[in-house]
Amino acid sequence: MDVWKAAAERQRTHGDVLSLAAGQPSTPAPTPVLRATRHAVDTELLGYTETFGILALREAIAGYHRDRYGVDVDADDVVVTTGSSGAFTLLFLAAFDPGDTVVVARPGYPAYRNTLAALGCNVVELDCGPDTRYQPTVAMLEALDTPPAGLVVASPANPTGTMIEPDELAALARWCDDHGALLISDEIYHGIEFGTLSSSGTSVAPPETSTSWVTSRESVVVGSVSKYFSMTGWRLGWMLVPESLRPALQRLASNMTVCPPSISQFAAIEAFGAESRAELDGHVARYAANRELLLSGLPDLGITKLAPADGAFYVYADIAHLLGDETSTAWCSRLLHDTGLALAPGIDFDTVRGDETVRLSFAGSTADVSAALDRLAGWLPVP
Ligand SMILES: Cc1ncc(COP(=O)(O)O)c(C=O)c1O
Repeated sequence: MDVWKAAAERQRTHGDVLSLAAGQPSTPAPTPVLRATRHAVDTELLGYTETFGILALREAIAGYHRDRYGVDVDADDVVVTTGSSGAFTLLFLAAFDPGDTVVVARPGYPAYRNTLAALGCNVVELDCGPDTRYQPTVAMLEALDTPPAGLVVASPANPTGTMIEPDELAALARWCDDHGALLISDEIYHGIEFGTLSSSGTSVAPPETSTSWVTSRESVVVGSVSKYFSMTGWRLGWMLVPESLRPALQRLASNMTVCPPSISQFAAIEAFGAESRAELDGHVARYAANRELLLSGLPDLGITKLAPADGAFYVYADIAHLLGDETSTAWCSRLLHDTGLALAPGIDFDTVRGDETVRLSFAGSTADVSAALDRLAGWLPVP
């Protein structure tokens, strides 16, 4: 957010900002969603809705999970929330007590850690490196002194883009069930998956996407319209939740938000239809092209230590060799100052090693990604 502020200021003074810092699509909601929005404004009251969301949307979300993963989900399993951010707050409140230990991956999405800490939970970060695709494993959980109350995983992850193989996700789900831990599977980047690069540099078959509900209906799946569906500002997310958590979630949600935004609910039903999906898959094809540009262009600039970028729209890069005494935050400020290019420093994602990393988002246009590489090439020392 500090980078965004600095980039906005730079744009005001120089008008030349190119941002690969934001973690959001550069496209509006799909056309059928925009059509449905206009229709809803004309025909619906748009007052409060049921706390867990309107039935038609919950049915559409359940259908999406059934089609994608063959899991048996119906509308009663779905809780619609105010973004997945709203889902995490509700869920952490419902599932954990102050003092409970909840495990997250480092590097990882900072809001898990920050929200859990604000609620008085004891956050344990697992140090996840390249050898496990920056993802937690059962072996890491086994090494803990006592089983935690919960584990949060994200696949594809932010900031690394790495995915958990289906077998490993299933093993994590089983371990959590066996040890009384709640597995929370953040699946908000599902739909944005790529092939892994072979050693010759060509794409091979994408890693299979899986969901924790294939293995355990005691886990919680978190989804959102923000990423694949290109609807960040509509503030709509959802959870698939075990029955035991529903009464607490119902009471908390009705007190805290009453319901998710109703205009977004009516509109989002259309996001799951074939016409929207075709438009959205077009965005994913552009992300794939942008990703290839970065994965081949960055090594040419001497930036070779990159996380695998299996999915989502990020490349997470180790830039320690470029830093000298500088932190990556200072390096990003200097880059912005000298060239107008904004990247996200790693410190929020990894409070231990993030001073040596940056995240590049490739959710923008291919021309922007290409121009960003040109600016970097003109600024970095020749490798
Ligand atoms: C891994 C992950 N989870 C959750 C969120 C929150 O997304 P939203 O509240 O827009 O659904 C983000 C946002 O960047 C994210 O990267």
